[in-house]
Amino acid sequence: MKIKAEIIRGLVKNVHPYGCRQEVLNQIDYCKKAKQFNGAKKVLIIGASSGFGLATRISLAFGGSKADTIGVSYETGATDRRLGTAGWYNNIFFKEFAEKEGLIAKNFIDDAFSYEVKEKVIEYIKKEFGKIDLLVYSLAAPRRKDYKTGKIYNSTIKTTSGEFTGNTIDISNDEIVMKKVSSATPEEIEGTKKVMGGEDLEEWCYELLKNNCFSDKAIAITYSYIGSPKTYKIYREGTIGVAKKNLEETVLRINKKLSEEIGGRAFVSVNKALVTKASAYIPTFPVYAAILYKVMKEKNIHENCIMQMQRMFSEKIYSGSKIEFDEAGRLRMDDLELREDVQREVDELWKKVTPENFKVLSDYAGYKNEFMQLNGFDVDKVNYDSEVNTEILKKMIP
Ligand code: NAI
Repeated sequence: MKIKAEIIRGLVKNVHPYGCRQEVLNQIDYCKKAKQFNGAKKVLIIGASSGFGLATRISLAFGGSKADTIGVSYETGATDRRLGTAGWYNNIFFKEFAEKEGLIAKNFIDDAFSYEVKEKVIEYIKKEFGKIDLLVYSLAAPRRKDYKTGKIYNSTIKTTSGEFTGNTIDISNDEIVMKKVSSATPEEIEGTKKVMGGEDLEEWCYELLKNNCFSDKAIAITYSYIGSPKTYKIYREGTIGVAKKNLEETVLRINKKLSEEIGGRAFVSVNKALVTKASAYIPTFPVYAAILYKVMKEKNIHENCIMQMQRMFSEKIYSGSKIEFDEAGRLRMDDLELREDVQREVDELWKKVTPENFKVLSDYAGYKNEFMQLNGFDVDKVNYDSEVNTEILKKMIP
């Protein structure tokens, strides 16, 4: 069959496996040519199959450090009815390329929130992989089952202080649409905190510590976002912001524990706004990101996930110098996004942007291109007129 993108209600509903393969290759090529670093050699990444987690994994394996990696993610493969998810294929092709270079690339495709997966990963570390010197937690999930009680918690993108109407991008029709978001109930705030806050990361860290799976001075990193005041109401001061603040507070606790027990440390990296599967759902965020892309590209300081992760490791974490943190102990990879001149120009465009002119005033083309590439479409060097054998896809295992 030939695979063409199916865009329904602003979402890409299918995947091009060989487009994903080429995207993984492109990221590998970028890392090989970029400034190299020598850092962690044994790494566990939770949320490793797309966005920041995948870029983290590629950077650590191919950006100089030659790390062996374990990736945990929640993805599905090809069936008779569907081709599966992009992350499924990202895992498959990452593994193929990593193994070609003699690196270990083990995938666990299951619910990271469950005890069972934690146990399986720990057993694998103890019996085969060896102690980890870096844990990266890059999960973005819509819901979480609490395995103690069986209760399901949902993550909600709402404000915590009154109704909010913000624009967002509908890529099905290439237009800006207004989206109204109501204020969250206490239960929705709690649910978002449960899914996207720090509890699960803390469980992972304590289980790994208890089972002696960290090497001395190991590091744990997780990702957060702060962004500009334009998105505060829906992000930093919304439900997701409550969860992120909880994550940041939890990391301070984990940091203390890692430091006391193994001389290690835990910190949050505050990353830049980027197009990923998760961020496209947040009202206002896509328009802000498309304007930000334009401004940062004009200044030649735009970074996609892989560029940002490679810079994080080569220039901040494993540069050989002391890692610099902000007053709250966070690494600031959003330094370029929040530069005064960048935000001033974004503000100017933000005030002028309308449904009629947004394609000119923002980098909508670049935004859409990155969005399509997340599912393997619009990728250079991929022939979308070629027949794809789905029987071969069904046999592929990550
Ligand atoms: P993404 O949607 O591209 O990736 C999420 C990952 O989590 C995937 O590997 C997915 O398989 C995995 N996952 C989801 N539910 C799971 C489960 N139950 N069990 C195991 N794996 C599961 O997301 P993205 O955007 O890369 O986000 C990663 C982190 O980076 C999040 O904490 C996000 O808040 C943060 N971040 C994102 C920014 C952005 O602009 N996209 C900016 C700054 C931080």
